[in-house]
Amino acid sequence: MKVSCGEKPRLLVVANRLPVSAKRTGENSWSLEMSPGGLVSGLLGVRAQFDTKWIGWPGVDVYDDVGKKSLCSSLAEMKCIPVFLEEVFDQYYNGYCNGILWPILHHMGLPQEDHNDRNKTYQTQYDAFKKANRMFLDVIKENYEEGDIVWCHDYHLMFLPQYLKEYNSKIKVGWFLHSPFPSSEVYKTLPSRSELLRSVLAADLLGFHTYDFARHFVSTCTRILGAEGTHEGVMDHGKVTRVAVFPIGIDPDRFINTCELPEVKQQMNELKERFAGKKVILGVDRLDMIKGIPQKFLGFEKFLEENPNWRDKVVLVQIAVPTRNDVPEYRKVKAQVHGLVGRINGRFGCVSSLPIHHLDCSVNFSYLCALYAIADVMLVTSLRDGMNLVSYEFVACQEAKKGVLVLSEFAGAGQSLGAGALLVNPWDVIEVSSAIREALNMPAEEREKRHKVNIQYVKTYSAKKWGDDFMSELNETFSESEMRIRK
Ligand code: G6P
Repeated sequence: MKVSCGEKPRLLVVANRLPVSAKRTGENSWSLEMSPGGLVSGLLGVRAQFDTKWIGWPGVDVYDDVGKKSLCSSLAEMKCIPVFLEEVFDQYYNGYCNGILWPILHHMGLPQEDHNDRNKTYQTQYDAFKKANRMFLDVIKENYEEGDIVWCHDYHLMFLPQYLKEYNSKIKVGWFLHSPFPSSEVYKTLPSRSELLRSVLAADLLGFHTYDFARHFVSTCTRILGAEGTHEGVMDHGKVTRVAVFPIGIDPDRFINTCELPEVKQQMNELKERFAGKKVILGVDRLDMIKGIPQKFLGFEKFLEENPNWRDKVVLVQIAVPTRNDVPEYRKVKAQVHGLVGRINGRFGCVSSLPIHHLDCSVNFSYLCALYAIADVMLVTSLRDGMNLVSYEFVACQEAKKGVLVLSEFAGAGQSLGAGALLVNPWDVIEVSSAIREALNMPAEEREKRHKVNIQYVKTYSAKKWGDDFMSELNETFSESEMRIRK
């Protein structure tokens, strides 16, 4: 691994999104806010160990050169380099990434193609996807120095490993999928299935959050490409690509320390006062169909139906972070969620109290920590989810309270925090309702025992460990392939 004069290994992290999203505040001025999502929160814990530059989309369209230049220099202070995707963005991001790949990866199937709208055809979106991947490559080329390691992230950049190796076969390339990888029976429906698989196989190391996702990937390669599954990963046309499992984590100290700040304690007191006499169930999700927010509300509705004694003693606070508003499916799920909130509050609320407090917004970091810390129960009902770091964040903020995590068995975290959480099938409203009841009634001793198991896991399997493990494996993997070339 080559090191710079700062003595840290040099790393180019390439992800669709930069860790900050920009908003224009003047011709030459920008405000930068932290971007949403698990990828960003996981990678923030990794950056310090490397001389890292992050390449990605800045979260905003910029058409003028003055704006582009000033944004580049604001971002440079944070070691971020923007990729300006304006010309392809809609077809690439709303179309191919989030309209096609995201549902396939989460077992939700392909959308119906709109044959009357040429801009919505599969081919147009696929071409834009490839073009966007080339635009990422161009920015990497401008910034690459010999010896840099390039770590590509997520489904947005499935062509990048191949493009990078075509540019320079000696670059060390890792690719990590932050979402689940589906069963081959689902993946098989994707029209460009082989091209995409072959492209990621060009990388030296492929990482997945869970053993199941890695297993699905390998068996998909064997079934679709006729490749061979080996103990290292996948062998296709004589090239072995290492496939391994690296469960992502968080930086637990960031949450633990924030909970100790006086202003956060103050926020906690205000929240406790606001919900005095009630148990608080918390949900924090991007408003995405994969997060199962309607299923969560249906389970909660069932609970209120079956447990009238709890009706004025419990509140569900749901923070639904706005996301991907230009994708039609997301607008549909938002409308569905709002309909359910109205129905449940109408059925079980009264003038002075409502069972669901639903907010379509994100909250700042300290307030989020305060909410996590005062909650009695965290309810995560993802229908399918790469990892779900919200579960980890809740655990990290619960040192004092030792609340209960109710967690979907279909989130990656279901495999890591399953021993301490109450696992549920989010499609089963009766099971969700029973888990809510069990969580609310759980004796302190049992809560403590479960919290101990979870916090130990969260502290051990941190974002730092995730990054270290992936990078050291990538380093070794590359030496092996170099040796193979030499033989
Ligand atoms: C998931 C994806 C990330 C993505 C995040 C937020 O965690 O795996 O790649 O950044 O969602 O979604 P967005 O589309 O807003 O970047």
